[in-house]
Amino acid sequence: MQKCKAVTYENHGAPDEVLHVSEIDLPVPGPGEALVRMHAAPINPVDLNVIEGKYPVRPTLPAIAGNEGVGIVDAVGANVTDLAADTPVLVPTEFGSWREAGVIAAEKLIPIPCDIPLEQAAMLKINPPTAWRMLHDFVTLQRGDWILQNAANSAVGRAVIQIAKISGWRTVNVVRRDELIDELQEEGADVVLLESDDLPAQIKDATEGAKIPLAFNAVGGESALRLANALAPGGTIVTYGAMGRQPLRIPNGLLIFKDLRWRGFWVTQWYRTASHEDIHSMFKHLCPLVARGNLHSKIEQFYAIDDALAAVKHAQQSRRTGKILLRLHG
Ligand SMILES: NC(=O)c1ccc[n+]([C@@H]2O[C@H](COP(=O)([O-])OP(=O)(O)OC[C@H]3O[C@@H](n4cnc5c(N)ncnc54)[C@H](OP(=O)(O)O)[C@@H]3O)[C@@H](O)[C@H]2O)c1
Repeated sequence: MQKCKAVTYENHGAPDEVLHVSEIDLPVPGPGEALVRMHAAPINPVDLNVIEGKYPVRPTLPAIAGNEGVGIVDAVGANVTDLAADTPVLVPTEFGSWREAGVIAAEKLIPIPCDIPLEQAAMLKINPPTAWRMLHDFVTLQRGDWILQNAANSAVGRAVIQIAKISGWRTVNVVRRDELIDELQEEGADVVLLESDDLPAQIKDATEGAKIPLAFNAVGGESALRLANALAPGGTIVTYGAMGRQPLRIPNGLLIFKDLRWRGFWVTQWYRTASHEDIHSMFKHLCPLVARGNLHSKIEQFYAIDDALAAVKHAQQSRRTGKILLRLHG
């Protein structure tokens, strides 16, 4: 049997202690299956949480790391009629994307158009859909409406900025480093502010007191509370990440007197319940944006699969300028 390399782990724990690069078997695709040669996969916060065993979804061990990535169909088994060799595809979470190649049920692959740069496609399954769904599924926004978000320089945050810009919505973006202000404005951010105690007053000034209906929180703790304080009565705050690892504290008054809606979003759950049509319809919107360069995720560095441990260490550093990716093709 053919072999290829993969980044694997036998036990949950600190990624630099449990991960290693192994040789795995590469079977011939059976009926209904496809052999995918991987091109690239990013290292996202979720990947590290899963390896640590701190995520609600735990793979069967031993496991191959990585939750998203892009590959090219190399061959298909019998009965696969709607997927041809050479098609670029997004792989499903359970595939374990940090590998050179693998065999998977063809129906679980998401084909994407060939005009998308593959390194951008590698980051298309998790973060841009999270931004897209949060912008479309909670509040019906009108052109010119304002949206607030923290961790605005994250991959999700940048996708929110870019999608909002082309949709005619305005964004107030909160970051914790002033060197990001110009950069995010160039990406389409209307307002970029630094985390500080008087943030709600600064947001009021910057938006001329606009009634802000929607906020996205990826940090938690005081940062989330500042966003909530800047929302209009009846506004919605969607929590999708907890980078600051501090719990949300919800003052009674924000419920009683402002009737804020505290919601959560998990893209994994969205994929579980979405129909085939819903998923394909979302990518029909997202793919042309990527192809035209309207939606673009920043990359800080590529690593070879043999250097996966160094790549993971790099991805764990704060103050990055973009994603760390594994280059998986030979
Ligand atoms: N719920 C869902 O379905 C879903 C989907 C996608 C992502 N997420 C979550 O969304 C978050 C962002 O993911 P991503 O891939 O977009 O991230 P990313 O590109 O890796 O960026 C990480 C961001 O978190 C910020 N950050 C890190 N530690 C922080 C702390 N202690 N306090 C405040 N900010 C901190 C970083 O700021 P600096 O640059 O200043 O270090 C950066 O803006 C993660 O929590 C991820 O798990 C959730």
